[in-house]
Amino acid sequence: MKTATLILDRDFTIGEVDKRLYGSFIEHLGRAVYGGIYEPGHPTADENGFRRDVMEMVRRLDIPVVRYPGGNFVSGFNWEDSIGPREKRPKRLDLAWFTTETNEVGLHEFIDWCREVHTQPMYAVNLGTRGPDDARRIVEYCNHPGGTELSDLRIKNGAKDPFGIKLWCLGNEMDGPWQISAKTAAEYGRVACETAKVMKWVDPSIEVVACGSSMLDMPTFGTWEYQMLMECYEHIDYVSLHRYYNNHANNTPDFLARSMDLDDFITTVVSICDAVGGTKHSRKKLNLSFDEWNVWYHSLAQDEEIKKRDRWGRALPLLEDIYNFEDALLIGTLLITFLRHADRVKIACMAQLVNVIAPIMTCAGGGVWAQTIYWPLYYVSKYGRGTALRPIVKSPSYDCADYEQVPYVDATAVQAEDGSLTIFAINRSLEEDMELSADLRGFGSFEIVEHVMLHHEDVKAVNTELHPDNVHPTRGASGSVADGRLSVALKKQSFNVIRLKVHE
Ligand code: AHR
Repeated sequence: MKTATLILDRDFTIGEVDKRLYGSFIEHLGRAVYGGIYEPGHPTADENGFRRDVMEMVRRLDIPVVRYPGGNFVSGFNWEDSIGPREKRPKRLDLAWFTTETNEVGLHEFIDWCREVHTQPMYAVNLGTRGPDDARRIVEYCNHPGGTELSDLRIKNGAKDPFGIKLWCLGNEMDGPWQISAKTAAEYGRVACETAKVMKWVDPSIEVVACGSSMLDMPTFGTWEYQMLMECYEHIDYVSLHRYYNNHANNTPDFLARSMDLDDFITTVVSICDAVGGTKHSRKKLNLSFDEWNVWYHSLAQDEEIKKRDRWGRALPLLEDIYNFEDALLIGTLLITFLRHADRVKIACMAQLVNVIAPIMTCAGGGVWAQTIYWPLYYVSKYGRGTALRPIVKSPSYDCADYEQVPYVDATAVQAEDGSLTIFAINRSLEEDMELSADLRGFGSFEIVEHVMLHHEDVKAVNTELHPDNVHPTRGASGSVADGRLSVALKKQSFNVIRLKVHE
C-alpha cells in the first residue's frame, strides 16, 4: 500500500475557524422555499406551514448562517412586498428565473424559520433595481427597536423585538450580464460604498459583504475586485466569492482535482484585497465570504426544458441536481480547502440548502432525504470547529487534464476547544487504498475515538427517496497508534474523518 505522510503540531496554527464557514443559502427559486422548507398541508407542517421533517434535517447540519432571499432573485425584489398580511402581498414576475413570486413566505416568516432551525439570517439587499435608500430602510425596519415609522411597522406586523440581523450582502453578482440591472465595477463600488455607509449609520453593529466578481472565469474577474474595492474598501467587511464546479467532461480524476482551483481562487482574491489595502495605506485586512459554492451541472438541460414549458410558473423543479458520490468527494476536498484558508475565509455558504442544488431533497406530500453531499458538510460542520492547524502533507500524486501533481491524499486538521483533534482526509485514487501515516508527536499521548468513512464502489452512485442510504458514512475505529504516530488506511475514493482524543 502506498503511504501519504502528515505532520501536525498544536503550535502550527492557521487560525480560529469561524463557524459561519458552514453556512448555507435559501433563495426564492424553484422549490427551495415553496415545496422545500414551506409546504402547508404536508403531514409534518407546523402552524406556519414549515415542514418539521426538513427543519430536523437542517438542524442536524448545524448551519450557523443562511443567506436569503437571493441570489439573482434579490436584484429585482422589493422587500416591502414580503411583509404585512399575506393575503395583501402582491404577486410579481421574477425576472431572474422567469417565474411568479407570490410572497407567501416573506421576511417575518423567514426569521421565524431561522429561529426554529437555530440559525442566523444573512440578508441580501437589492442593489440591482434599487439602492441605498431601500437598504437603509430595511435595516431600520429589521433592527431599530421602535419609535419610527418603519420600526413601528415591524411591531405592527407582529415582531415586537428587533430581528437583529447582523450580516448583510450588498447585492448579488453585480457584474453578471444575467443580473437584473448589472453594473460596472466603478458604478457598483460607489453604490456599495454609499449603501454600506447608510446601513451602518442606522445600525453600527452590522457587517456587510460586497460583491466580488460573479465567477473566476468572468472577463471582469480581478479588475472588478480591484476597482470596486478602491471605492468601498474602508466601508465593507467582506468580499464575496462564488464558484460552482461541474464534471461535464466526465473525467473523475480531473473533477476531484478542482479543489486546487478553489485554492488558487482564494489566494488570488486575498492578494487583490491586500493590494488595495496596501495602495490605500490601510491597516485593515479584508476577509472573504465564499457565499455560493457547490457542484452545479446535472440539472442544466432539464432546467432549459422547464423554463421553455412553464414560463412564469410557480415553485418549478428548477436546479434540482441529483448528486452522486464523486460530487460528495469533491465537496469534502472543498471543505478541506476552506479550512486551510480559515485565517481569511470567514463565511462560506453551500448553495443551496433544500431542493435547489441542495444537500436536502423533498418530495411534495412525501419524504425528505440527504443527498450524497450532505455527509461531508455534516461531518466537517460537526467536528471542524476550533483551531485550524497547518498540516504538512506529502502524498503520491497524479497528473490529469487540467492539473499536474495532484496529491492523491489531501488532508487537514482542526483542534477543538476540549483538545480533541479531528483529521479530515480524502483519498482521490480510484484504484488504490493508501496509508495515512501521521506524525502527531507534538500532541503527546492520544487515542483513536472514531474513523468515519464515506465510500462507495461506484462514483456515480446517488441517494433517492427510495434508497436514501445508498451513499452513507460508515463508523468504526480502524487504525493504530505507536510512538506518537497514527496509521490509518484510507480506502480508495473515500472521504475520512478521523477523531482523536488527546490526553493532556
Ligand atoms: O445559486 C443559484 C444562482 O447562482 C444564484 O441565484 C446566483 O447568485 C448564482 O449565479
